[in-house]
Amino acid sequence: MTKMMADQAIETIKANDKGRYTVPTHGLYPFQWNWDSCLTALGFSHFDMERAWIEIETLLEHQWDDGMVPHIIFHEGNEGYFPGPTVWNTGRPVPTSGITQPPVAGYCLRKIYERTSDRAHYHDRLKLLVKKIYKWHSWFFENRDPENTGLVAIIHPWESGRDNSIDWDLALDDVPQDGVAPFIRRDTQHADPEHRPTENQYQRYIWLVQHFASLDWQNSVLHDSSPFKIVDPGFNAMLIRSIQDLAFLATEIQEQQIAEESLVMAGKAIKALESLWDDGLDQYVCYDRSRSCLVRNASIGGLIPVLVNIPNHRKERIAQSITNHDCKFGIPSQNPQSIEFERYRYWRGPVWLIINYMISEGLKDQPSVRNSIIEQSLELIEQSGFAEYYDPIDGKPCGGQTFSWTAAMVLEFLGESVNEQASPSGELQPTD
Ligand code: DGY
Repeated sequence: MTKMMADQAIETIKANDKGRYTVPTHGLYPFQWNWDSCLTALGFSHFDMERAWIEIETLLEHQWDDGMVPHIIFHEGNEGYFPGPTVWNTGRPVPTSGITQPPVAGYCLRKIYERTSDRAHYHDRLKLLVKKIYKWHSWFFENRDPENTGLVAIIHPWESGRDNSIDWDLALDDVPQDGVAPFIRRDTQHADPEHRPTENQYQRYIWLVQHFASLDWQNSVLHDSSPFKIVDPGFNAMLIRSIQDLAFLATEIQEQQIAEESLVMAGKAIKALESLWDDGLDQYVCYDRSRSCLVRNASIGGLIPVLVNIPNHRKERIAQSITNHDCKFGIPSQNPQSIEFERYRYWRGPVWLIINYMISEGLKDQPSVRNSIIEQSLELIEQSGFAEYYDPIDGKPCGGQTFSWTAAMVLEFLGESVNEQASPSGELQPTD
């Protein structure tokens, strides 16, 4: 069964492979997406190491001069997606979107590097990637943390990767809908509309795109001029983890300055993350910079910080709260006890394997919780195939099908369960 599942996962990734990048799935997402690509590269590393490196390299080839790495690279034309290059209008030679996505490149690259046997062969390529990723990390603090708090804000729900999370509901109310040019959504032609964001949300997503385009995508002004500015603990935790992993890689190639500066950035961010802990909800929560208040909502975003060296007692409380629900399949992207929970709708309830993967990785010292996350993830695949996400109550497949990063996570889970390794040297330990 394990072998058959691994073979199917490899076939799924191969079917979405466009040569130098992978589409998340044909139809619904026909281009290269930033964090999809990095996590899919982990899948490649189980059967084609060179291809894993290329996946990350292709993404970084489209980095903007200021350091930003866009969330979509429109490598080729495709009328089946909205909003396409003419709506973004970023003026790039190969069109890209104008916003970014969770920075997991450093995190994934370290894993790929550690699995690479002929590391000397990749030395120069690694050096180039480390410099580019460092530039991206620095870009975040230069452009998304103007008050030097140590944490960065997202300025569009799509940047979070958790597009329609309940975390953004209040902040989105402050985003206008008027003046949005009429458009036809394409996502709902590829996936069940009940699984996707609402029309109201889409209007506001597009308003933000039009607003940023009207400012010529100048990152130096976008943060302050955006009505939507949220500090997401999950996003920041992925950034911190990537920075820490990049520090490790920089040390490997004697880029001492990058290593040191990265550790300073990460250390400051880890301390600042504590301001987002919510003792009542037993997890971290978002901070709305426009409204100047915390967003007291129990979504998956506040659990992802287990991926970094937060205090042990916080990890334990998060581990307990993860198991504290009646769903057959964890981890629901929204606490099922909240009234806003929707079992099928994208990031308002469904289970995502990439999140299960990152949280399970953060819970290595909580083996029973970790093992049950992995078992339930693999059960979902057996029951429902390589879907984009799943109903946590009965495991029904939702969104797009034959999904690259879902397949990649299966290879990670299968690889780890057969070949569990001790924590590699250089990994930062939790504080207490
Ligand atoms: C989409 O099109 O739904 C994406 O999540 C935006 O990147």
